[in-house]
Parts: sequence; structure tokens; C-alpha cells
Amino acid sequence: MGYICQRKPLCHFTLILLATVALSPTSANLLAQEPEDCNETLPALWHMAPGNFSDYTRQGNKIVINAWNYAERMGLYKMLLNSTAKYFATLGPNNVGNILWGLPLQHGWQFVTGRLADPLNTSTCGHDGNRLCISARSWWPCMNYYLAIIPFLGALESGMFGELPYEVEMLPPNEQRDDFCHSIAECNTQVPKIMSKWRHFFKYLLSTTWNSGSPSVPSFSKEEALKYLWDAHDDCITFAFSKFQNRLPYLREPERSFAKDWYTTVKYVAPTRFPTDQCQTNHLQAGLPPRILLKGDNAPFIGDFTFVQNKALVVFSCIRKTNEISGGASFLFWKIVMSTEEGRKIGRSLIESVV
Ligand SMILES: *[C@@H]1O[C@H](CO)[C@@H](O)[C@H](O)[C@H]1NC(C)=O
Ligand SMILES: *[C@@H]1O[C@H](CO)[C@@H](O)[C@H](O)[C@H]1NC(C)=O
Ligand SMILES: *[C@@H]1O[C@H](CO)[C@@H](O)[C@H](O)[C@H]1NC(C)=O
Ligand SMILES: *[C@@H]1O[C@H](CO)[C@@H](O)[C@H](O)[C@H]1NC(C)=O
Repeated sequence: MGYICQRKPLCHFTLILLATVALSPTSANLLAQEPEDCNETLPALWHMAPGNFSDYTRQGNKIVINAWNYAERMGLYKMLLNSTAKYFATLGPNNVGNILWGLPLQHGWQFVTGRLADPLNTSTCGHDGNRLCISARSWWPCMNYYLAIIPFLGALESGMFGELPYEVEMLPPNEQRDDFCHSIAECNTQVPKIMSKWRHFFKYLLSTTWNSGSPSVPSFSKEEALKYLWDAHDDCITFAFSKFQNRLPYLREPERSFAKDWYTTVKYVAPTRFPTDQCQTNHLQAGLPPRILLKGDNAPFIGDFTFVQNKALVVFSCIRKTNEISGGASFLFWKIVMSTEEGRKIGRSLIESVV
């Protein structure tokens, strides 16, 4: 993919083509529609993830959670999805409209594609025989920690789970534990800004009614919720990306470039306030690489990838190249365009047109 995008004209051509497709009125209308067949795929091993506080280990008045075990980390999402379901009930059956689905589905993709395993392969963590282990050496789950544990603790502190008679604490990983915080108090000290962004999101949900009809309480707005969600999400990945620069060298090329491409792409997705519900996220994820990228993988010519997966890799790479070449000016421009609902609509159909 590096090879393709070193050819700047091709990069620009791809982006212009995308823009043309998205800007043409017919495709904008076509793409703005919800996909008819909602893909209700659940994150991997969703059914075996604990879905309730009582399923976790108790130590005295503490609930202790091993966030470096895939099932236990996924269980945090399960509780989040469950406790917020009522706000999204009008958006479809089975909680499909819940915009928090983007987080566990993305984590599931990381698991299935081998991205949570020890990238150095010097331990069994995440590999055969120890599949559920999440490696603190891998860049992907380190980034995800800030999109799983922090939102969960933010929800807990906001009262999303009601009053709990015990404290909740995360177990540290085996190594590099200082890179993470493990309780509400510790996270409020280490990453106060991000914690407050997640509290804002959950407090927004709590401040609305989903069906009371009382005029004194604002009614739930999906657009408003997406604004808070992406705001928190964006701050998290910006912070985590700079924090986990030291994990990037553990990834081999071209996987390392892809990680940076994906990060930059998600930065561009954020201001569009893309609706990360179950259907849309699954739809989008079908375009992501189904395994770790290996030496010699050269999009759009990766034999075991679909056409869409190959194309998406080229686009992600082009986005980062364009961003770097423009010295960040393209991102500023993008954010200005995305500052209105009309602009965001175009932005979202651009994303749709990739997958
Ligand atoms: C979930 O956990 C709470 C608190 O531990 C408990 O009161 C409740 O009965 C549990 N619910 C289920 C369905 O297990
Ligand atoms: C939430 O969890 C409880 C207890 O496990 C379950 O009875 C309920 O159906 C779940 N709600 C949703 C919307 O998934
Ligand atoms: C990891 O190491 C084991 C044992 O040395 C080897 O069998 C396996 O193929 C390696 N896996 C990867 C992904 O390199
Ligand atoms: C549904 O989404 C998953 C990715 O989350 C993908 O693997 C699967 O192919 C999709 N199924 C259909 C029918 O599109």
C-alpha cells in the first residue's frame, strides 16, 4: 500500500473520485439511506462474556476485573450496552440502534484478526492455547483500553449502573502497568479530561427521557448523543496514540503503517459523527483487513482480501499521506466542512462509498 500511495497522483485521483461519487446528489441520497439488510453480527464470543457485575470476581467489597482477558473486557461492553439500551429502543429491535456497538465490534475485530496477541510472539499471550489473553505489548489493545475501561469507569461514575454497594477495580497487566489506570479515582487523576468527556456522554443520556413525554426534560436525540460520543472517542485516541508510540515498533511493516493509517482515518471519521450502531459498524468493518498484514502484502493486490478490503486499505493510506503532505491542513479543512450537518452528511456518504 505504501508503494501505491508513493504515487501521489493516484492518491489524489482516488480521493477526488470518492468526493465526486459522494457529492453527486443521487448517490448522496442513495447512500444516506440505512442499509436495508441490517447486519446484526455480534462481537466474537459475545455470548460467553460476563454480562453482570455478579459474574466477576469479588474480593471483600471490591469487584476485580481482569481487563487483559478478552471475555472480561468484552463483558464491560456488554454491561454498557445493556444499561444504555433503553435510550436507543426506538431505533430498532434488539438494541441494534445503540451507538455504543462500534466499540465492542471493533474490539471483536481486533480479537478475531489476531491483533490482541503478543506481537513479538515471545509469550503465548493471545496465541493458541492462551487465546483469551490480551497482550499489553500490542498497540491495538493498548489503544482500546482507553476506549473500553475509561468509558466503563465513566459510566460507573455517572451512575449509569445505579448505586453499587462495592468498588470496582481493574487488574493491571503483567508488564508496563504504569501506562494504565485501574479505578475511578486513579483514572480521574491520570486522565481527568478523558474521564470527564465520557461522563458528559453518559450524563447526557441520563438527562434525557426516552419516552416520558415530560416537556421539562429534553428528549433523547441520536445526533446529540453521537456528538458527545465522538467527542470523547476522539480525545481518547489522540491521547492514547501519543502514549503508545512505543508499542508501534513491535508491529512489523506493513501492519505498523496500517495501524497509523487506521488511526488517521478514524480521526477523519470522528467529525462526521458517523452512526456507530450495530448495522453500520458491521457494514464498515467488512472493509477492514481480516488478518494482520504481513511482509509482502501490497494493497490493492492482496490475494486473500476482498476487493473492498483492498480498496479500503488504499484509501486509508491515502488519507494519511494526504494529511501528512498537507501538514495537517487537509484535516483542518475537513473539520470546517464537517462543522455543519450538510457537510457531515457528505462526509458520511464518503465513508459509505469506500465500503
Ligand atoms: C446482576 O447483578 C446485580 C448486582 O450484583 C444483581 O443484583 C442482579 O441480580 C444480577 N442480575 C442477574 C440477571 O444476574
Ligand atoms: C440486560 O440484562 C438483563 C439481566 O442480564 C436482562 O434481563 C435484560 O434483558 C438485558 N436487557 C437488554 C436490553 O439487553
Ligand atoms: C509463534 O511462535 C510459535 C513457536 O515458536 C510458532 O509455532 C508460531 O508459528 C509463531 N507464530 C507467529 C504468528 O509468528
Ligand atoms: C456482517 O459483518 C461482519 C463484520 O462485522 C462480516 O464479517 C460479515 O461478512 C457481514 N455479513 C454480511 C452478510 O454482510
